[in-house]
Amino acid sequence: MNNSRPIKEIIEPRFVMEGAGVLLRRSIAPQVSNQFDPFLLFDHFAFNDPAEGPIRGFPMHPHRGIETVTYIIQGSVKHRDSLGNSGLIGPGDVQWMTAGGGILHEEMPRRGLDGIINGFQLWVNLPASQKMSRPRYQGVEAVTIPVFEKEGCRVHVIAGMLGDIVGPVTEIAANPIYLDVALEPGATFNVPVPEKQTCLAYIFDGQGVFGDQEVAGVKMVVFGSGDQIEVKAGTSPLRFVLVAGSPIGEPIVPYGPFVMNTIGEIQQALADLKNGTFVQV
Ligand code: CO
Repeated sequence: MNNSRPIKEIIEPRFVMEGAGVLLRRSIAPQVSNQFDPFLLFDHFAFNDPAEGPIRGFPMHPHRGIETVTYIIQGSVKHRDSLGNSGLIGPGDVQWMTAGGGILHEEMPRRGLDGIINGFQLWVNLPASQKMSRPRYQGVEAVTIPVFEKEGCRVHVIAGMLGDIVGPVTEIAANPIYLDVALEPGATFNVPVPEKQTCLAYIFDGQGVFGDQEVAGVKMVVFGSGDQIEVKAGTSPLRFVLVAGSPIGEPIVPYGPFVMNTIGEIQQALADLKNGTFVQV
């Protein structure tokens, strides 16, 4: 039996400055209350006006205890890290980084040739048993991300399943779904989402009916309980990112770029940084 999820909450993203002066639209941020478990943070790069000048980005910084997921639709992010990786996350590419026990990296977002950047960073929590795991990357190029097409729906499947299409990002603790959904005016879209998973949609273009309410972008929708998501586009094209994941169900202590389970583990992260023993290789 299909039970469509209603909207539980609509979040208005707020503008924040992070890194060396990067303007972002932030919908959720790490909090002890952990109400979006396993998701911790969702940022949308928001500097589309070249009059704002060059973007200075996010110089070398640490992460521990989480995964950072960068998905770029327009523009790019240049990156390098303490494991020796470097490269460009280009339009349509995804970088799913499991920071585990410790990584230092630099992220430099850039507008595309058309002056536009549309990109997102999601933070996903790791269970205690994986917080000190070896860091790893799943770098997925746009050409290898499968596209589901049906009756006015065009969906990039990054993680999880849609129809018989399986996304290329796998072996993630939260067992996530990550879809980039584009709908033509009036098109409808359905996807099953396991009852126990937390499910969020970030609407960045157009408007439509999400479950039981009409919502216009730019907004984040938090879905209530049910086992499937139903969306119907309004009179213009609609585009949103849909994420779902299994709650980890552990207490968290967030501190800047670290999310651990106890204050002692945060103190340990700070001590490791100071002592030069932070990076896990
Ligand atoms: Co980072």
